[in-house]
Parts: sequence; C-alpha cells; structure tokens
Amino acid sequence: MQADAGSHKWSHHLNIDYDEFRQFNILFSVIWIQCMSGHIFLKTAAMLLLFLLASVVQAAGDAAAGKDQVTACVACHGQDGATGLDGSYPNLAGQHEKYLLRQLQAIQSGDRAVLLMAGQLTNKTEQNLADMAAYYASLPAKSSQAVGEDEQVAMAQQIYRGGIARKGVAACAACHNPSGSGNAAAGFPQLAGQPAQYTTVQLKAYRENQRITDAIYGGMMRDIAEGLTDTEIGALADYIQGLR
Ligand code: HEC
Ligand code: HEC
Repeated sequence: MQADAGSHKWSHHLNIDYDEFRQFNILFSVIWIQCMSGHIFLKTAAMLLLFLLASVVQAAGDAAAGKDQVTACVACHGQDGATGLDGSYPNLAGQHEKYLLRQLQAIQSGDRAVLLMAGQLTNKTEQNLADMAAYYASLPAKSSQAVGEDEQVAMAQQIYRGGIARKGVAACAACHNPSGSGNAAAGFPQLAGQPAQYTTVQLKAYRENQRITDAIYGGMMRDIAEGLTDTEIGALADYIQGLR
C-alpha cells in the first residue's frame, strides 16, 4: 500500500466538536475509513458529501438589519463590500453567508487573529454577526482579472482543476467550483475575484498552521496548502483573482 502523507493530519482533526456536526461523525468515519487507503480525490469527495449533508441550523441573518451594523466596516472593506483599501483586504460582497458568519465568529472569539479588526466585533451579538453576514452575502460580487504570464496562469489552472496528485494536493475546483464560486450549502468560500495579495496571505497562513479556522473541516485547507510552494501559491492567487 502506498504511504499517504496527508491522511494522518486529516484524521487528527476528525473529532469535530461542534454539536451540529456530531451526528455526522459516524457517517463520516465510515466514509473516511473507506478512503484511508485511497486517493486524495476520494477524500475530497468524502468531505464534500459530509458537508453537503450537514445542513447546519444557524441564526437566520437579516440583510437589512445587517446594513445598520456595518458603518465602521466600510472604512476598510469599502462601501460596496468589495473595494478594500488595498489588496490585503478581502472582498466580502457576494461571499456565502454561512462562510461569512463562521469567520465573523472566529474573528470575534480570537480563533482567527485579525489585528486590524481588533475591537470591531467586541460589542456585536450573535444576531448582529448573522445580520452582517446576510448583508454582505446579499451584495453583488465584484470580479477582477489575472495579471500573470500565460505560462503561470496555465500552471495555476492545472493545479486548480486537477490538483497535484504526487503531493496530495486536491483539486481546488472540487470544493471551490471551477468558476471559483465555492459552495454555499457546504460553507466553502467563494474565491473568484479575491485580491491575489489576500489569497496569498491566507494560503501561507494555512500552510504555516497560523490560520486554523478549517478545524471543523478536518484541517483540510492546511493539509492542501502544505503541499504548495510559494511559486504555486503566487500563481494560484493570481489565477483566482481572475476567476469569474
Ligand atoms: C481597520 C480595517 C478593518 C475594519 C474596520 C474591518 N475589517 Fe474586516 N478585515 C480586515 C482585514 C485586513 C482582513 C483580512 C485579514 C487577514 O488577512 O486574515 C479582514 C477580514 C474580514 C473577514 C474575513 C473574510 C474572508 O474572506 O475570510 C470578514 C468576514 C470581515 N473582515 C468582516 C468585517 C466586518 C463585518 C467589519 C465591521 C464590523 C469589518 N470587517 C471591519 C480589516 C478590517
Ligand atoms: C475538500 C474541499 C476543499 C478543497 C479541495 C480546497 N479547499 Fe480551499 N477551502 C475549503 C474550505 C472548507 C475553506 C474554509 C476553511 C476555513 O474556514 O478556514 C477553504 C478556504 C480557502 C481559502 C480562504 C478564503 C478566504 O476568503 O479567506 C482559500 C484562499 C482557499 N480555500 C483556496 C484553495 C485552493 C487554492 C485550493 C486548491 C489548491 C483549495 N482551496 C482546495 C475547502 C477546500
């Protein structure tokens, strides 16, 4: 049997502690065991299935109420939610509500350290967070374009669509969609149009184990980023910026 360098870490994070996911652990474990000796793509399929099934009950956000909560946010993220001060600010407009809410919770609790946002969420209730998530999700997403050389874009496209099997890097498209639209129900973020600078920082943060918000997903983004070089990350980030 072929040694699988990635599998040990995924299984480490298998004990998903969120109540809402508990019931899916058993189902997932079964799929997981069947995939242990298998391919990275089978694992991806198992992950997808798990999170599509896990239709998590969450506070319903009210976009109109959310609009009143974002007065301070616009200074950095732009009036339209997609014109940050520079490329280090993510577009929020059109991002999936479920993903946004999880990130806001993680930033508020400190699980995701965002220095610039310190204090921004201190006085927000769970309902405020849900409303802001609904508001930003309701805004139209903004697209951009890739600026890399053809060769670099082609390399990135190959990884994005096909992964790098020898390094256990799963195809990004499997979860984030070939168009970069992500998967709203599963909570997989939309990537299309995101500034390359922001995406580069995130992929490196996952790789260096600094961003751990993927814990409830078995640490899958950290596992994937672990196999990526700086050059590959740079090319992918540029390609993603141009997706639409
Ligand atoms: C002083 C600037 C600043 C302000 C004000 C600010 N943010 Fe941010 N925000 C950032 C930066 C910078 C990041 C990216 C951090 C990183 O690289 O991880 C970020 C990231 C985020 C993310 C994560 C996006 C993703 O794709 O994962 C969300 C959601 C978010 N901000 C929402 C808000 C909301 C809602 C407010 C207002 C309550 C707000 N921000 C106010 C600077 C700011
Ligand atoms: C098995 C599913 C899966 C695959 C395959 C996958 N991702 Fe992800 N990705 C996720 C999930 C789930 C998250 C959200 C994790 C979190 O909350 O931190 C995410 C988050 C991200 C983010 C952070 C987005 C933001 O707004 O901060 C980036 C960037 C990203 N992925 C890029 C990639 C790239 C590039 C690839 C391919 C090399 C890839 N992903 C492959 C599931 C996947």
